[in-house]
This record gives sequence, C-alpha cells and structure tokens, in this order.
Amino acid sequence: MSLLLNRNVFGNPAHAGNVLSRREAEDLFHSWVINARLKLHMRQVAWLMRCWAAEKEGLDEAGQWRWEMAGLLHDADWDQWPETHCAKIIEELERREVGPEIIRAIASHGPAHFGVEPETVMDKMLYAFDELSGLVHAYSLMRPEGYAGMEVKGVKKRLKEKSFAANVSREDINDAAARAGISIDDLIAFIIPRQATVLPED
Ligand SMILES: [Fe+2]
Repeated sequence: MSLLLNRNVFGNPAHAGNVLSRREAEDLFHSWVINARLKLHMRQVAWLMRCWAAEKEGLDEAGQWRWEMAGLLHDADWDQWPETHCAKIIEELERREVGPEIIRAIASHGPAHFGVEPETVMDKMLYAFDELSGLVHAYSLMRPEGYAGMEVKGVKKRLKEKSFAANVSREDINDAAARAGISIDDLIAFIIPRQATVLPED
C-alpha cells in the first residue's frame, strides 16, 4: 500500500491565511475520527504545536491556531480511510479553501510515507512532534505515576528499547529532529510537561 501523494503543491495561494473556525475544525475532527486513542494523539500533537508556536515562535493567536489546527487534523483520515491517509484530509481542506500553509504541514508530516519534504518550521515541528509524542505517551501509560515525575532520561531509555512501542518509528524520530535542528533531549523536555496537561475526553 503506497500513501505517496505524488504532488508537491497544496492548497491555493489565493486562500493563504484561511483557517477553519475552531468549531468547524472540531466538528470535522469528531465526525471523522472514532478511535479514542487516536483522538487523544491528535489533541496532544495539536497542543504541542500551539505551545511551540506561542512560546518559541512568538506567534499571535491567529498563528497559534494555524499550528494547532494542523496538529488537530493531521491524522483525521487515518481512522476510517487508512488506504488514502493524508490524501483525503488534504482534499477536504482544499475543498474548504484552507490556506496552503496548513495543508502543506499535514502533507509533509511523514516524508517517508507521503513523499513530501517538510520545508517550513511548522512542517518540521509537526513531523518532529508526531512520533515522539506517541512514544512519550506510551511511556506514561506504563508508569504507575503517569506523567508525574517523568524525566527525559526515562524516555530516552525507552527510545533505545526497540521492543517498546515498537510501532513508533525511531527512524522518523531521528530524521525529524535532525531536520528541525533540535536535539531529541530538548524535544522530549518540551513535550513532557505540556503533553501531561492534555487529558482524555471521557
Ligand atoms: Fe500522528
């Protein structure tokens, strides 16, 4: 099964800056995504993206929402349409005239899978948070204390254990951190306290 998108231009430049409202994005999220674990993952990545946009990029509310929205919807089609993962959500956002910046970030969140290179800082951070966020969460689930007291070195240890959360691609994690120009340690240290605040919906 190939998920290659075979294209490199996303959205319409005339729609630059367009976003869905939070309500519209959440409606799409809830109508497309059924799996509770996947929903939590997407909300975790959305929050990390928003925090990074605010804290590291100094973006205003509109900018923070663009980053958050990319995170919130990046896997929206994975649950019900895995064979057209990424293509389907991209087409939906294009149909809704969302700005190219957001669509491109979603299209490049797995270059090995979709064949699209992350270019902007937003692209790179979505790619960098995606798999590593999943590994940190898997680690929280095996700790009786959850996120409390979690340390970077504990996450690093799990990262080296190939059998732990074996579906999390170590290759993607290393590649993404290198492309973002941020150490894995710094990424993990950013993720832990922020992701700890994202609670399951039910
Ligand atoms: Fe993801």
